[in-house]
Amino acid sequence: MTTVDLPLLVLGEGTDPRSERGVHCPGDLPPASDPDLVERARAAKAALGSKVFVLGHHYQRDEVIEFADVTGDSFKLAREAAARPEAPYIVFCGVHFMAESADILTADHQRVVLPDLAAGCSMADMARLHQVEDAWEVLEDAGIADVTVPVTYMNSSADIKAFCGRHGGAVCTSSNAKTALEWAFEQGEKVLFFPDQHLGRNTAVLKMGFELDDCVVYDPRLPGGGLTTDQLRDARMILWRGHCSVHGRFTPECVDEVRERVPGVTVLVHPECTYDVVTKADLIGSTEYIIKTLDEAPAGSSWAVGTELNLVQRLAAHHPDKQVTFLDKTVCYCSTMNRIDLPHFVWAMENLVEGQVVNPITVDPDTTHWAKVALDRMLALPG
Ligand code: 13P
Ligand code: SF4
Repeated sequence: MTTVDLPLLVLGEGTDPRSERGVHCPGDLPPASDPDLVERARAAKAALGSKVFVLGHHYQRDEVIEFADVTGDSFKLAREAAARPEAPYIVFCGVHFMAESADILTADHQRVVLPDLAAGCSMADMARLHQVEDAWEVLEDAGIADVTVPVTYMNSSADIKAFCGRHGGAVCTSSNAKTALEWAFEQGEKVLFFPDQHLGRNTAVLKMGFELDDCVVYDPRLPGGGLTTDQLRDARMILWRGHCSVHGRFTPECVDEVRERVPGVTVLVHPECTYDVVTKADLIGSTEYIIKTLDEAPAGSSWAVGTELNLVQRLAAHHPDKQVTFLDKTVCYCSTMNRIDLPHFVWAMENLVEGQVVNPITVDPDTTHWAKVALDRMLALPG
């Protein structure tokens, strides 16, 4: 069994092409205090015209979202990237795994740029290819690999998506996890779901009628995942021990506290929150669902939202007629999403104007082939 793991890297230093973790950006970034930064971003975008298409995830800063041609959750952005064969440059304002998916889904002549290579994802880093391969061997030894379908959350590296493609599995996002799991259970008897145990459990138990006892948690740091062969054979959902460090911060006490503080509040959370939090909430859904729910909410209604803070602050600003509160009392930005700021954006765009592609995200052809198999299975799902 492989035990090699990555040395700890200080975010933003060093190079580590196998990881979601940070590497530094070479080149001269404009200082964040530059008063002309907005103008420079506008000028670069105008100069590039239809040659560039800018995608912005909902968790991006306002200053960056302002320049996005389209905003969305990871599912919508994957679809949008795949639907723009005419733009030679795709600037992805999001995190590394999203830019990888964009590279996989776009044509060969298109270049995908991530303005700061240190914009990774701690959840995606919780499932490494060698760990997943080891887990598959454990399932083979238990005699259940041939009835198990691997399903990875979009928030995973390209080689993990390729693993799913090779082994008859698929990708899912928080928008389509239920549909993807229904598809997977038509292909096999069990699902190995990674890296987010919470999305897997919340979907299986709260949306598909499984029992909590049907789920086991596979810990990649323990021999055999910390599970007995019988536990693996009895389980329907084998959940990877991974989580989002941002959504994992919300606690059931946050829900109690906000209900006391805001009378009549409706609590709306993302499915990356823990089972204990979502079972206390009123509504659960992806970022697109959260936005739609707030758009359709009546004036005067009160909401506590459990997702990334940039999005919640933007929702509060867009809905002055509704009371929109952050579910936690402490600040909870996604630090890696926040790595994409205006200096990095301007630096990437101005280089494109000069014909230089900085921070290209390129997935190798074999990984691209198999990851695309898994992504295409997702994109072909109904809905
Ligand atoms: P969605 O965009 O699929 O809602 O996922 C949230 C998230 O954590 C992205 O990193
Ligand atoms: Fe990763 Fe969570 Fe940040 Fe999304 S919000 S990029 S899952 S750490």
